[in-house]
Amino acid sequence: MKKFFAAALILGLMLSSSAHISAKEVPPKETSIEETSDREAPSEEASTGNFSSEEESETVLPENCSHEFEDWYVSKASTYREEGEKERVCLICGYTEAISTPKLTHLSADKCPTGDADMDGKVTAADARYILRLSINLDDGLDAEQQKKADFDEKDGITAADARYALRVSVGMDPYQPTLAPGYTFAGYTSKGYALAKKDGVTYVVSSYGYTLIANKTYSLPSTYAPGDLTSECKAALGALQKGASKEGMSIYCVSGYRSYQTQANLYNRYVARDGKIKADTYSARPGHSEHQSGLALDVNSVAGSFANTREGRWLAANAHKYGFIIRYGKDKQNITGYIYEPWHIRYVGAELAAAVYESGLCLEEFFGITSAYN
Ligand code: DAL
Ligand code: ZN
Repeated sequence: MKKFFAAALILGLMLSSSAHISAKEVPPKETSIEETSDREAPSEEASTGNFSSEEESETVLPENCSHEFEDWYVSKASTYREEGEKERVCLICGYTEAISTPKLTHLSADKCPTGDADMDGKVTAADARYILRLSINLDDGLDAEQQKKADFDEKDGITAADARYALRVSVGMDPYQPTLAPGYTFAGYTSKGYALAKKDGVTYVVSSYGYTLIANKTYSLPSTYAPGDLTSECKAALGALQKGASKEGMSIYCVSGYRSYQTQANLYNRYVARDGKIKADTYSARPGHSEHQSGLALDVNSVAGSFANTREGRWLAANAHKYGFIIRYGKDKQNITGYIYEPWHIRYVGAELAAAVYESGLCLEEFFGITSAYN
């Protein structure tokens, strides 16, 4: 069913929009693919019990229906659309009609923002055709006028960029590459639609929270990146956090702050020699991959799992975000962050983002839609 909402939405966009849709015209969130895809398909009971179960076979079904699209249920719809006949059923009056669907591949909500309709890892012209076919639910293709309107950037015919554009608009996101601050270059979008930017070899996620430096297993820092100390912002935030803790009779102190590329290399190599590479990779970053090198992260009090259960550890977990820090490697997030739970490692991201991440219950990777894995 969600495909129909998507189809209606994208068709509307394609046929009613001028060549460039401004951010203002982005459809409201409630009509996004993500939202509609969450819409529950009717239960067996709802879809058959009301008007098509054997017990009710006497029911006379209407011969036509003028109910809104949202009230339709595509029977046997799954996340995959296969070529062939299906039927759609109006959930209000029970009117049923056969529909034919073109062969379409999977379009999952989390892939929509990247426009990768067939989930092969890249947006291609085939994806563009997919979106267009979906939007018109026909195999006929587009007439010249539709073709012109669907070509959002008015060049090269209908391309992958157009597919990406349509998908981004359809999920309520800014369809355009953002204007980046001087020195930053655009480096694509995350799976959640945030822009990635690079500056001097460092990767940032660009969001309403600003430019968030990313250092994890996927995104590395150049060996030359060396702020030399915790950044002034991080230090100021740490000072405020320490003051807050001391007001409640606790002491939070730094046991490991800024670490250069070389210091991290020495540390990591020592751990590999002691525990082997596989184990070391679960708790120590390879050189160039540690947040400590960014000057935005530090370890406090005790580098031991038991710290989480101390008064300070509990206070930190509940209050760090108020000072702009997140507990970067959360409990049960090892599969995503790539590291075991580190209740002592705090990362400065600014108070607004820290609060949003804290409230979300997500780790930074999940929050922004990025990975953390070595190549
Ligand atoms: N312990 C963290 C992952 C680091 O080495 O940066
Ligand atoms: Zn650390």
